[in-house]
Amino acid sequence: MTQLMTVIADQATYWDRYAANTPERTPQEALEGAFGWTQYPGHGPGNEVLGDPATALELGCGHGDAVAALALNGVEATGIDLSAAHVTSARATWGHLPGAHFHQADAVDYLTSASRRWEAIYSIWGAAWFTDPDRLLPAVHDRLTSGGRLVFSHAPAIPGSYGRQGTYGAGYAGPQVWIYRWAYEPGAWVELLRRYGFRHVRARVEPAPEPDHVGTLLVEAARP
Ligand SMILES: C[S@@+](CC[C@H](N)C(=O)[O-])C[C@H]1O[C@@H](n2cnc3c(N)ncnc32)[C@H](O)[C@@H]1O
Repeated sequence: MTQLMTVIADQATYWDRYAANTPERTPQEALEGAFGWTQYPGHGPGNEVLGDPATALELGCGHGDAVAALALNGVEATGIDLSAAHVTSARATWGHLPGAHFHQADAVDYLTSASRRWEAIYSIWGAAWFTDPDRLLPAVHDRLTSGGRLVFSHAPAIPGSYGRQGTYGAGYAGPQVWIYRWAYEPGAWVELLRRYGFRHVRARVEPAPEPDHVGTLLVEAARP
């Protein structure tokens, strides 16, 4: 209840409030279909899109369910998230798994201060949506192993509405907090990723289970 009363004063508290409003689930419920890229449970590709990495980093891991799913499959998996509430929840539920690690950090700050590399870096409706790709993509490229994969998903662009999209995180009568997302058509993502040195780039919109419902942008790329 205290968290529901949190005043949104910056982006981290915006996400803390979001975390507090997520429905509670048992770990077993959380793991069912935990590794999906779309907003439709059980729909679309799963973790095979990552290849077969020994190490993986999730940017904006939320409650950490996808990290846990990878760790249970033998991957050394790390999740980072801007929200302390999300990281606390992830550690409380999944911290006992030897291969699951969680840290509170901004995605670009974490990547640029890291001294190691990962075989897969991914984001499921996470930090890759909320971070300027001109800052994020070079930072990810630098921290991937050779052959390592970047995969991310989020909502497709609304036709005609591209680049940085802003909204007031605390509403129109609250503190002035801006939340930005970035939106591009698949072809523009391919160009951007190639410009930052990625290869084997594939970007597409996965169709929704129902015709004419909102699909999912899914982008895959590799560091040569
Ligand atoms: C829509 S939620 C998705 C969470 C999770 N990936 C899932 O699928 O349930 C977006 C997540 O991205 C995190 N996030 C947003 N901007 C971030 C940033 N710059 N660095 C790290 N995490 C960020 C938020 O805190 C939030 O947990």
